[in-house]
Amino acid sequence: MAEFPERYEVPDDEATLEHVRLKHLASARDPKTFSILKEVGVESGWRCLVAGAGAGTVSAWLAEQVGEEGEVWSCDIDLQFHDQMPANVKVMQHDHAQDDLPENYFSLIHARAVLQHIPERDEVLDKFIASLVPGAVLVVEEGHFEAFASQPLPEPYATMHKVVCSGATTPWRDPDLGNKMLAKMAERGLIDLDLTGDVWAMRPGESAGEWWFLALERAGPMLISAGIITEEQFKEAMEQARNPNMVMLSTLSVATWGRKP
Ligand SMILES: C[S@@+](CC[C@H](N)C(=O)[O-])C[C@H]1O[C@@H](n2cnc3c(N)ncnc32)[C@H](O)[C@@H]1O
Repeated sequence: MAEFPERYEVPDDEATLEHVRLKHLASARDPKTFSILKEVGVESGWRCLVAGAGAGTVSAWLAEQVGEEGEVWSCDIDLQFHDQMPANVKVMQHDHAQDDLPENYFSLIHARAVLQHIPERDEVLDKFIASLVPGAVLVVEEGHFEAFASQPLPEPYATMHKVVCSGATTPWRDPDLGNKMLAKMAERGLIDLDLTGDVWAMRPGESAGEWWFLALERAGPMLISAGIITEEQFKEAMEQARNPNMVMLSTLSVATWGRKP
């Protein structure tokens, strides 16, 4: 019987699905991430940390920006989906909740869709800031699920969608962290705070939609075990999600950044 996991983890039988999902997340979000990082300004020779790097596409892009004199630490608790990287990228198995980082070391830290999954997110933020050199930048991209969850959608898809949006299948998750990051950075004394947000149309068969529809597919067995939906409802909901006419509003994605004084 599938059970709700206690922390972020990918069981072996879900690995293929999760790998495809991570690739979709990266191709849907990388163009926006790269334009934000260009706006922040990444320089040759910088030391960067990519937290919870997933497939490592942001790490590979940063490696090009910082050049041979720079370095990128591409860290994730689970490296099974991480791509091959150029020589200036240090790929590290690292648990941000447990493991230490060097103090006063990085010029830039980037974390996308990661802190929402770590219950100790406040302590992790403190660690990130301690590991920045003065003047360095922290960029955090997180979602906000409220409007995404409450948009009108057909049943039974709507029920399944709402439950997964609420983080109820993963009680340690904060799906609405996106609108809290500005306050969290201000509380910690970061300066030059700024943010940008965006929404988009989600459709099946496109990365912009599949990163989510595959998350629902992963959550299905847990929802059935918990008695939230039946197997028939799950099947029907996934047919609705994959209907070629399906189009829906995405989450709000909020990128927030600030500089260590
Ligand atoms: C939704 S994925 C995002 C991946 C990548 N940042 C992206 O946007 O393409 C979340 C990632 O965070 C990683 N993760 C979750 N908890 C972590 C932890 N405690 N320490 C390091 N990585 C973690 C997962 O393994 C996964 O790769």
